[in-house]
Amino acid sequence: MPVSEDMVSALIGLKRTDDEGLVAQLTSQLRSLIATGRLGKGRTLPSSRRLASDLGVSRNTVTYAFEQLAAEGYLEASRGRRPVVTVDGGERHRTGAVASGVRSGKPRLSPWASRLKQTDWPMSYLAPLRPLRPGHGDAREFPNEVWARCLRRSAVRAAKRELGPVNRTRLREALAHYLATSRGVRASADQILILPSAQAALTLIAAAVITQGDEVWVEDPGYPGAAAAFRASGARVTGIRLDEQGMQRIPGAAAPTLIFMTPSHQHPTGRLMSLARRTEFLGLSRPGKTWIVEDDYDGEFHYDSRPVPSLQGLDAHGRVFYVGTFSKAMTSDIRLGYLVVPPALVGTLEIAQRHIGLIAASHIQEALAEFIAGGHFLAHLRRMRRLYHARRDHLVEGLERHLGEVLSVEVPSGGIQLVARLKRGRADQAAVKRLVEAGVETRALSSLSLGRPRDHGLLLGFAAWRENEISTAVRTMASCL
Ligand SMILES: Cc1ncc(COP(=O)(O)O)c(C=O)c1O
Repeated sequence: MPVSEDMVSALIGLKRTDDEGLVAQLTSQLRSLIATGRLGKGRTLPSSRRLASDLGVSRNTVTYAFEQLAAEGYLEASRGRRPVVTVDGGERHRTGAVASGVRSGKPRLSPWASRLKQTDWPMSYLAPLRPLRPGHGDAREFPNEVWARCLRRSAVRAAKRELGPVNRTRLREALAHYLATSRGVRASADQILILPSAQAALTLIAAAVITQGDEVWVEDPGYPGAAAAFRASGARVTGIRLDEQGMQRIPGAAAPTLIFMTPSHQHPTGRLMSLARRTEFLGLSRPGKTWIVEDDYDGEFHYDSRPVPSLQGLDAHGRVFYVGTFSKAMTSDIRLGYLVVPPALVGTLEIAQRHIGLIAASHIQEALAEFIAGGHFLAHLRRMRRLYHARRDHLVEGLERHLGEVLSVEVPSGGIQLVARLKRGRADQAAVKRLVEAGVETRALSSLSLGRPRDHGLLLGFAAWRENEISTAVRTMASCL
């Protein structure tokens, strides 16, 4: 999918190193955006000043990268002008292929890869974090020292080859206990697969139970990563409207092969699915025929009431996959998630996990088991719950005070982000563009719809920023909207 000028910085993720390292990373990532055709011939890049400010690097870093790419023939860059892409990605690849004696031609892709390319959406966590990007906790509050000690001990054991299986037993047991006591999940340790992320869990489920043409229901608006995973597997994905209780049943519609939902805290609206609605969906799901995927991506954070137990815990017939992640509860770069698999599918999913290779490093799994056993995970959650609760209230108060005429805030009872709907008009994507230019990163609600968007507003993260940072961002928003 071609990338617009505004999206360039969102697709670049730089690891902090010395200036030379940053130039090399930036050059290589821009080169690959051009080579893959995502920045096509004739496309203008942002100015060095703008890209430097978006990426939080020096202007020289960007200028050197532009100069290098100009020298390689990818860009035309002259002083005072924004650089222009001079080659077409396909063309460049073909030239290279002919030069090396390989026959040219567009590579023939599998249906899976073609569909995935059509549904691609920017993975914002690859770019530097800016206020108020949704979906993130505060990595600055993470107990790095304790985590480093756990990691060190497990790394030594791994070096001595003391750590064994794909899914570490100690972590599975710790998780089974945690999920039973805090989320009401009913599962034995051997039903739990440890994966690199929740997204990996969705890919695995899609690979295991979706046949081309199967019907899948997802929430609309909803989490685009889920729709992408199921569509890539050939499913016909239908977006289901929400009401105050979350996803609604379509009256009279036959049950699909799979229903994806976020009942504890609907993504993006934050709504909680009622017990009656949960029971209704469970009743619709026939064992072995209709699967439910419960994505509990940030269920650890609840502020106003006790958390509602998981849907999985209500199911007596093994119809529910329960997906979780440590991206929100700990940090997104830990790359650990998990999947609780219905008993009848455990063996199949374990085979798929090994063959697709969705295996998390054993020393990281072991370090996490120790972190949980030592009480650090629960202590961190308790502290973050207090902090994020206060930040949610601070953002709500700021939005109501400074933007009450423009936005109507929906206060979620938990989670790490909230929705503020436009009181007038539908121009949420234009608003997001203006805000990004001013340094505030949000998501347009309409961009999370599958079909014609019915919801227009902004998805705003509150957990990753201190109260003074939130205040600054709200003031910026007030001056832009
Ligand atoms: C609803 C939902 N599910 C799953 C994920 C993916 O989590 P992970 O980072 O573990 O892949 C996200 C990430 O933002 C999400 O919002």
